[in-house]
Amino acid sequence: MQFIKKEMICIPNRGFFCFLYRKLHYKVTIHTSERVNATTFNNVYIKLVGTDGKSKRQWLKGFRGPLSFIGGYESTFDVSCPVSIGKLYLIELDKQQLLLAPGDAWFPAKVEVKSPEGDDYIFPIYRWITGSEVQRFREGTALRVFDDSHHLGEYARKQELIQREKDYRWDVYQEGIPHNMKADSPLSLPAEVRFSFTKTTEFAFTAASGLADLQLSGLAESKEKWTDMDSIGGVLTTKRTDISDYVQENWKDDAFFGYQYLNGVNPMLIRRCSALPENFPVTDDMVFLRGGACLAEEIQKGNIFLSDYKLLDGLQGNIINGKKQYLMAPLVLLHKTPDDKMMPIAIQLKQTPAKDNPIFLPTDSEYDWLIAKIFVRSAEFSEHQLNVHLLRTHLLAEVFAVALLRNIPMVHPLYKLLKPHTRYTLQINNLARLLLISETGVFTKFAASGGEDMIEILKRSLSSITYSSLCIPENIAERGLEAVPNFYYRDDGLKLWDILHRFVHGVLSHYYKSDGEVQKDSELQKWISDIFEQGFLSQACTGVPQSFTTVAEMVKFVTMVIFTGSVQHAAVNSGQYDYGGWMPNMPLSLQLPPPTTKGTTSEATMLQTFPDVNTTAQGMSTVWLLSKQSSDFVPLGQYPEDHFSEKIPCELIKDFQGELEILSSVIEVRNKSLEVPYTYLDPTALENSVAI
Ligand code: FE2
Repeated sequence: MQFIKKEMICIPNRGFFCFLYRKLHYKVTIHTSERVNATTFNNVYIKLVGTDGKSKRQWLKGFRGPLSFIGGYESTFDVSCPVSIGKLYLIELDKQQLLLAPGDAWFPAKVEVKSPEGDDYIFPIYRWITGSEVQRFREGTALRVFDDSHHLGEYARKQELIQREKDYRWDVYQEGIPHNMKADSPLSLPAEVRFSFTKTTEFAFTAASGLADLQLSGLAESKEKWTDMDSIGGVLTTKRTDISDYVQENWKDDAFFGYQYLNGVNPMLIRRCSALPENFPVTDDMVFLRGGACLAEEIQKGNIFLSDYKLLDGLQGNIINGKKQYLMAPLVLLHKTPDDKMMPIAIQLKQTPAKDNPIFLPTDSEYDWLIAKIFVRSAEFSEHQLNVHLLRTHLLAEVFAVALLRNIPMVHPLYKLLKPHTRYTLQINNLARLLLISETGVFTKFAASGGEDMIEILKRSLSSITYSSLCIPENIAERGLEAVPNFYYRDDGLKLWDILHRFVHGVLSHYYKSDGEVQKDSELQKWISDIFEQGFLSQACTGVPQSFTTVAEMVKFVTMVIFTGSVQHAAVNSGQYDYGGWMPNMPLSLQLPPPTTKGTTSEATMLQTFPDVNTTAQGMSTVWLLSKQSSDFVPLGQYPEDHFSEKIPCELIKDFQGELEILSSVIEVRNKSLEVPYTYLDPTALENSVAI
C-alpha cells in the first residue's frame, strides 16, 4: 500500500516547473453507448473499489461539461486517491439530476480505468441507469461464485441477484406449458431487456405497413370466400420475395411438397419409416414407386419417410367469422426416388383408418390429391407455428433467459457468454402473448388451431419434447435422416452446431478445469435446475438435465441453448413469409371438412375450403411482420457489447467469427447452384437471439 506523502514534488515535463502535493491518479474513461437516447445531462459520480481500499465518491467533471456523456462518445476524467487502492474489482456509479433539469436515462457501455501502477481495467456496463441510486459494476474478469473471495465482491454479487429475483419473476400463462417472465406489457419489462428505440419504431412501422396495405384494399374486413386464384395473389402485392414467388408458381408440385419437409419452414417432422404405422394401411397396389420396387423393399433400403401430425389429433377446430373450421391430423408417406426427390405417395387425413377417411394418392383426380395436400399444409401451419416455432424456440429461449437473469450475476462467465443470446427475447414473447395468442390475438382469431386447441397443442408438444430432439446431431440420427440428399437444414445446422460447440467448449473449459468445479458452482446449478422446473415442468422423461455433473454436460447444454435461440429459431422463423405468404401453400385455417369419398372435388371445392379473405389477409400480414429483419439485427457470433475482456475468451470469439465467416462463404457458393437457395442458416443472415 502506498501512503500519501505530503511532500513537494516537481513535474518537469510541462515546459515549466510546478509544485503540488503528490496524489495517485486513476484515469477513468467513460464510454456512453451509441444507441438512441443513451445520453445523460445529469451529474455522474464514481467510486473506485479495490482490494486495498476505495476512492471517495467523485463527481466526474470533464472539459466537455454537461456534454461528457453524449451517446457514442467517450470522456476521460481524473480520479485521485491519497493511496493506492490495490487491484480494482468494482466501481460504483450514480447520476444525479440537476436542479430544475429533467432526469434522464443513461446507457453507459463500459468504463475503463488506468491505475497509477499502469494496470488497465475494463468494467462492462451495457445497462440503462435510470434513477439516482448507486449501481455497482464488476471488473470484466469473469468470476465464478467460489472465485469471489473478497467480502465486498461477495456482497455486490448477492445484492445483484436479490434485485434480479425481484425484477425477473416467473409467471404461469397457462398450466402445462413453459413458465414465462411476469410482465403485463413491454413497458413493465426491465429497461435492459426492452427493444431499442430503433427496433420499436421499425416493428411498429412494419406492422402498420402490412395492415395499411390490407386496409387500402379493403381485405381486412371482408368475410367473403375467395372466388378465384388470381385474387389471392393480389393480397400484399407490394410484399414479395423471390421464394414467395417461386412458391406461388410451384405449390402444387409434388416434388416441391416433399422438398418443404427438408428445407421449408418446418424441417422437424419428417422421419425415416422403418415400419408402416398400424393406423396407416398403405398397400403396394396403392402406390407406384419409381424404380419399380415394392414398399417393403423400399422401407428396407431406407427410402420411405413419414410425416405424422398425430399431435393435432382429436381437436375441435376454431370458429372464425362465425363458421366452424377444420383441422386434420394427417399421415403422409414419402418416397425418396432414385433421382433424389422426396415424393409424397400417400396421404391419410385423420389418424384412425376408416371408410370415410380415404388414403389419397397421386393417381387420384387432380383436386382430390391437391385438396389432400392442402389439408396437410394447413396442419403444417399449426404444427409449425405452435410446436416447432413458438414452443421449441420462443418459449424455451425465454425460459433460458429468465433463468439466466435470475440466477447468474454479470461477472459470471455464463452470463457473459449467454447474455447476447437473450437480446429482445422477453419483449418479443411478451408481444406474442399480447398480440398473437391472447383472446383477441391474431392467432386466436384467425388460425384453425387458435383458442383452446392452441393450449392443448402446446401442452402436448411440451409433454412430448425431449432433450435429444433439441440437439441437432441426435435429432437427425433419431429421425434417420443422416443420408437424405439435398437436406440443407441438416447440412448447415450440423456445421453450425459443431462450430458453436467448439466455441462454447473453448470458453467454458477455460473457466472450468474439472468436473468438480462445475458441481460446486451453486449459481450454475441453480440456473439448470430453474430451467428444468420452470421450463420443462420437472418432467424427468424429457432427459433434460436437472443438474450438471461434468464440464461436457454443461458445454452440450449451453451449446443447445445458443443453438435454439439463434440457429434453430432462424431455421423455423425466417422463411415464414417465403413459404406462408402464398396462402394456398400454408393455409392458417380451412373451412370445409375434407372429402370423405374420392371423386367429389373441383376447383370450386378448393376455393370454398380456403379461409375467408380477411383470415387470409391477416395471416399473410402477420407472417410478413414476423419474417422482417430489423436494422439493428445482430448476426450470430457478433458481440457489440464487450462482456468478456480477458485474452483467451476474446481470442475464442475471433476464432468463432472466423469459422462462421468461412461457413457463410461455403453456403453462398452452394446456394448459387440451387434452384431454391437455402439462406436461413447463413451465419450472416441469422440472429444471435430470438428477437422476432
Ligand atoms: Fe420467431
